[in-house]
Amino acid sequence: MNFPAIRMRRMRRDAFSRALMREHTLLPSDLIMVAFLVDGEGRREAVPSMPGVDRVSIDGLLELAGECVRLGIPALALFPSPESSAKSEDAAEAWNRQGLMQRATRALKAKYPQLGLIGDVALDPYTTHGQDGLIDEHGYVMNEPTVEALIKMSLAQAEAGMDFVAPSDMMDGRIGAIREALEKAGYIHTRILAYSAKYASSFYGPFRDAVGSSANLGKGNKHTYQMDVANSDEALREVELDIAEGADAVMVKPGLPYLDVLRRVKDAFGMPTFVYQVSGEYAMLKAAAQNGWLDERAVVLETLTAFKRAGADAILTYYALDAARWLRE
Ligand code: PBG
Repeated sequence: MNFPAIRMRRMRRDAFSRALMREHTLLPSDLIMVAFLVDGEGRREAVPSMPGVDRVSIDGLLELAGECVRLGIPALALFPSPESSAKSEDAAEAWNRQGLMQRATRALKAKYPQLGLIGDVALDPYTTHGQDGLIDEHGYVMNEPTVEALIKMSLAQAEAGMDFVAPSDMMDGRIGAIREALEKAGYIHTRILAYSAKYASSFYGPFRDAVGSSANLGKGNKHTYQMDVANSDEALREVELDIAEGADAVMVKPGLPYLDVLRRVKDAFGMPTFVYQVSGEYAMLKAAAQNGWLDERAVVLETLTAFKRAGADAILTYYALDAARWLRE
């Protein structure tokens, strides 16, 4: 009998040596919670395609923020779900100083100044057609007019006290244009989280239900601005441009199907690199768990740990509160 020269199992034998050789540790401070926001008071509406996720009015949002603070979650990403009466061709509600996002930001900052706030910057919740930008007569999303709108939106959020503006629209040149406008207006501390490698993914379906853009988008798609799912060299070019234009952190989205992209981005640039575990990923895990097919806690913590292993510095996830609680038990 030949003995193995090296026994990999020796270090795996006991919990103490497994702990000593563990390369990555998931912490509540790695997580960013995601919240959907509605106008009004005392409103809490379930999102049918995302069981366990609600759209909440500002009072409910404050409760959610309190939970983040208690659990050690450093930041909350805000997505508005405006009434259809607030939608228009030009998306003007997006930069209304008294708009929902701006009021929510002021309320959150007044109560929990230590909680970081990340504001989505894209027009889709506010347009009657559900596209992330302004369209021409052929339905094509126009780049420069959209960037002008995104600048106004970013300034309104910065003025309300948003810590990070997060353009999720994939227009060309928007990071540089927003940075310049923020600097000129004196918002030198407002950070930019660039959705740099954002794919034209089918995993966003439940999110579009949650913010109420899916019906408006109809059979439309976002292939003329979001990236082709088959590409990853292109992701590196996108990230490189956003860094050159002044992004403070970059993001890969969706998450689990794009771990290869995450690893390449982190290796190539060493930037603060965030990943978004999107609505469809949440829905898949939740559906399997509800059917008793997967152990929810185990698979969720496994996916979040996989993001860290692949190079993520922070993870946006609808599971942030659950995961932080599980990590504390
Ligand atoms: C749109 C936006 C989307 C998401 C975040 N911002 C959807 C889209 O591009 O259609 C998706 C997030 C998720 O699926 O959880 N600006």
